[in-house]
Amino acid sequence: MERQRSTSGRKLDHLRICLERNIERGDPGFSDIRLVHSALPECDLDSLETRIEFLGFTLESPLFIAGMTGGHPGTKEVNRLLARAAAEHGIGMGVGSQRAALENAALEDTFSVVREEAPKAFLVGNIGAVQLRDHGIEWAERAAAMIDADAIAVHLNFLQEAVQPEGDHDARGCLDAITELCAEFRVPVIVKETGSGISAEAARLCWEAGAKAIDVGGWGGTSWAAVEGLRISPDPWSGESVHPPLSTVFEDWGIPTVVSLMEVAGTGGPVIATGGIRNGMDMAKAIALGADLCGVALPLLKPAMQGEAELERTVTAFCNELRVAMFLTGAKNPGALRKRRPYITGRTRQMMKK
Ligand SMILES: Cc1cc2nc3c(=O)[nH]c(=O)nc-3n(C[C@H](O)[C@H](O)[C@H](O)COP(=O)(O)O)c2cc1C
Repeated sequence: MERQRSTSGRKLDHLRICLERNIERGDPGFSDIRLVHSALPECDLDSLETRIEFLGFTLESPLFIAGMTGGHPGTKEVNRLLARAAAEHGIGMGVGSQRAALENAALEDTFSVVREEAPKAFLVGNIGAVQLRDHGIEWAERAAAMIDADAIAVHLNFLQEAVQPEGDHDARGCLDAITELCAEFRVPVIVKETGSGISAEAARLCWEAGAKAIDVGGWGGTSWAAVEGLRISPDPWSGESVHPPLSTVFEDWGIPTVVSLMEVAGTGGPVIATGGIRNGMDMAKAIALGADLCGVALPLLKPAMQGEAELERTVTAFCNELRVAMFLTGAKNPGALRKRRPYITGRTRQMMKK
């Protein structure tokens, strides 16, 4: 039996599963990376500079709240708290796919709340490549207008589409749609994977299409194959098994975040490292490997559900850990950290030799 859920219903399923179940799979590769300790850092931990420029915006830290939610009335409060944290820390934030609100305007406030809470923050809208292809630039315009976006992310999620009963299995025409959007759109376009990573070859296609930044969305953190597997099998309504093996087999699919980051950084252009970043030391490693921003999703979702104080504690911990890692490498700012070549070991090293 194939169960069809509305876009909004799926968003709530996803949120609930991400909060209640273990949906992290694989290894993003950060344990293969070792920053070089500086025994004589010659800098002051308390006056390190974490401020960076990204797409013409000045952000107080490379920490970026990766796009997660919105699209169901129950998600508005989470977006409100995440946006408040973004405003307080001067960091950027993305929203989750805006499809549900594009289909049903009554849900727009679950997204627009982020701009109300963070009037000056760098905010990134979110639309699927398939929806962009099917509905054209007008949908991207509406998505951007909904949150007065500073950039729009076009997400690629063909693994999820392939294992989802409601998924769109036709990926043709998405690159043309992205190219058209990049040529005409009034804010920068970021192409974003959602857990399977972007190869150097795919990155080159994105730059040629006119993307202004790439979010690698690599394997090793939140797994959409795992989420979909839990959502559809066994079917929570009928109790029947749908097709457990497909999503389970593909939990192992994707380019680890660190490998994807190095491949994409090697092709030029601003890069967001997302997927399995679990503390500020992972952030420091990602920056040393070429990341401009470090996207974090799941580790911020759980504290956001516990309330403002817990979210504040978590964001502060990420920022402090990054500062300590910078101090111990003798990097006074993210630019200096990017010049610190780390040791690369294990499977990451092997994969980079392919
Ligand atoms: C609950 C949840 C919902 C998400 N929804 C979206 C989405 O709608 N669009 C998108 O581009 N990415 C979405 N993501 C993916 C994240 O932006 C991010 O790429 C991914 O979770 C990997 O980061 P993590 O390992 O830190 O969670 C979602 C992630 C979570 C946890």
